[in-house]
Amino acid sequence: PRICVLMGGLSAEREVSLSSGHECAKALRVAGFEVIELDARGDVAQRLVEIAPDIVFNALHGRFGEDGCVQGILEWLRIPYTHSGVLTSALAMDKARAKAAYVGAGLPVVESRIAPKAEVMAAHLLPPPYVVKPNNEGSSVGVYLVQEGANTPPRLSDDMPAEVMVEAFAPGRELTTTVLGDRALTVTDILTDGWYDYDAKYTPGGSRHVLPADLPPAIFDACLDYALRAHRVLGCRGISRTDFRWDETRGLDGLILLETNTQPGMTPTSLVPEQAAHCGVGFADLCRMLIEDASC
Ligand code: DAL
Ligand code: MG
Repeated sequence: PRICVLMGGLSAEREVSLSSGHECAKALRVAGFEVIELDARGDVAQRLVEIAPDIVFNALHGRFGEDGCVQGILEWLRIPYTHSGVLTSALAMDKARAKAAYVGAGLPVVESRIAPKAEVMAAHLLPPPYVVKPNNEGSSVGVYLVQEGANTPPRLSDDMPAEVMVEAFAPGRELTTTVLGDRALTVTDILTDGWYDYDAKYTPGGSRHVLPADLPPAIFDACLDYALRAHRVLGCRGISRTDFRWDETRGLDGLILLETNTQPGMTPTSLVPEQAAHCGVGFADLCRMLIEDASC
């Protein structure tokens, strides 16, 4: 079959997606597919009609590519595509509504609220430390940490949306688990000098990944269990990656689910390919498995 790899796009994670997309296109060629790479701009629907691929491999991240928009175009065009469908993508990308689903499934999250930007800049809406972030971005784009003891509320940039999420800061270690098909793979412990922000995520050597994470078995197993339950309650297809914080001073109560990514990064520094490889699934096989799972 002829595969079109969608990449780039219009979100703040455009560069990340170009990197994911090129890696996946390369791997799919190795796996023997005919591959066309397409930068998903405003004319993406028209371009897809012209290219008429058998399957779309969605390597987009962030708004329009991970939030159900491009998935809707692909449904409309009846082109099978990889990763999650319209509803799941929209739900997972909306941090507040996804949280409601996690709570319904009995999964642990921290307190948060959605508030207009002006209110967030006028007063502390939660006691510091807390985090302010867009409700629908990834890769730590636009994340503000208000430190413990901070006197003044944050000054948010003009790029931030009109409404933002204010979330209690969850301290502790940064853990992540991939679900591939119906199986939670393993747990990675992410070590950084400072914050696991955009630079730490995508600069080679910006973070160190301990894989498998050296954790008490109950915590390791809880990560696998929570990631699988999050994947199921959102209705994810193919793959997802769920991120956690673990405050080791509080045992199992200190394990918090931060979010589930339905289009996890596939760049050379990304966590999913590394976990898959650790479990015996090479990058080309991983991409091929997602293709086999494509539907519309
Ligand atoms: N949002 C980035 C791509 C990730 O979750 O890996
Ligand atoms: Mg994310």
